[in-house]
Amino acid sequence: MSRNKQGALIGCGFFADNHMHAWKTLEGAEIGAVCDLDRAKATAMATKFGIARIYDDPAKMFDHENLDFVDVATTVESHLPLVRLASTHAKTVICQKPFAENMKDAHAMVAAAKNAGSNLLIHENFRWQKPFLTMKKLVDDGTIGTPHFAHFSFRHGYDNYVNQPYLAKIDRFAIMDVGLHLFDLARLFMGEVAHLSCTKQSLNPIVQGEDAFTALLNMENGGTCICDCSFYSKFSPEPFPNTAAVIEGDKGTVHLDRWNRLTVHTASGAETSNVDPAVPLWGAKPWHCVQDSVTNFQAHAIDVMHGRTNPRPSGEDNLRTMALALAAYDAAEQASSMNMAQWSED
Ligand SMILES: NC(=O)c1ccc[n+]([C@@H]2O[C@H](COP(=O)([O-])OP(=O)(O)OC[C@H]3O[C@@H](n4cnc5c(N)ncnc54)[C@H](O)[C@@H]3O)[C@@H](O)[C@H]2O)c1
Repeated sequence: MSRNKQGALIGCGFFADNHMHAWKTLEGAEIGAVCDLDRAKATAMATKFGIARIYDDPAKMFDHENLDFVDVATTVESHLPLVRLASTHAKTVICQKPFAENMKDAHAMVAAAKNAGSNLLIHENFRWQKPFLTMKKLVDDGTIGTPHFAHFSFRHGYDNYVNQPYLAKIDRFAIMDVGLHLFDLARLFMGEVAHLSCTKQSLNPIVQGEDAFTALLNMENGGTCICDCSFYSKFSPEPFPNTAAVIEGDKGTVHLDRWNRLTVHTASGAETSNVDPAVPLWGAKPWHCVQDSVTNFQAHAIDVMHGRTNPRPSGEDNLRTMALALAAYDAAEQASSMNMAQWSED
């Protein structure tokens, strides 16, 4: 085995804890430095994970560190300068979603990585969740034939605003936070989108932006896909943070319920299995499916760093997902369908 790739984490907030736990459990890469504008957060992270080098200024960190990879786990407004800087100092840059607030910034990051000869991966972890890895294998194996309809649904009533208070204060919330994940799944299973229409709702009075949306996607291959999300739905037991899904093909259907039970319907009948992943030793319910997917995604990032595979998804691939999220706002606000071949941000 070649030596461990040397990395740094930028952004030591709520979700970065999962990144750090996953890096600790994986072979082939290790984090040797952490950075946060808030030095107390960087210090707390370094202490918790035994990291020797602590920074509160990314530029200073890059002056002092010799890095193979950088893991950017900050919120979206900082991604452009950080990805630009990281690209010139490391061969692999991983950026959390949402990748960017607009297409101009997203394209600028893709160009920066390309010009620097660096691999840009987007931390798009829903496709790395065990239920979706299982469904992808079933679809790729031909178990349900050719898919013609899919539905991805993320609905819950969990109080996200305790851990992520910024979510209640942003103008663009549900589509940019979770829509991106669902659109990535739609593209993964159904291909590219021809037309998109969308409605959005503001349900919880403490939330500034939309906290629910329903999007209808007409796929280039003639398929149909629905993506919907709500942060204000009442279920028992609480399904957060799971995604329900249905994919129908000409030979069968796969159905994932909100509690990670997967039923495969074919001509020979229906079979249900539990695809809920084990809680990682370092993890806790209800986050375990997400935590497991962080480990799966980062294991993939290590394969990319060692030249064993290509980024899934790359920054370049994620441009189309970003475009769907941004077009969804236009579709909802103009109450009309967006032709994705012609849609542009302006
Ligand atoms: N993929 C997922 O399942 C998932 C889940 C939750 C959050 N996220 C994403 O992770 C990102 C971080 O979310 P969070 O909830 O951890 O946010 P957070 O606010 O808790 O943490 C972000 C940290 O980044 C630091 N920071 C900001 N700008 C910086 C800069 N220029 N240099 C250094 N540090 C900087 C902040 O001080 C803060 O400590 C968001 O983009 C969010 O959408 C992804």
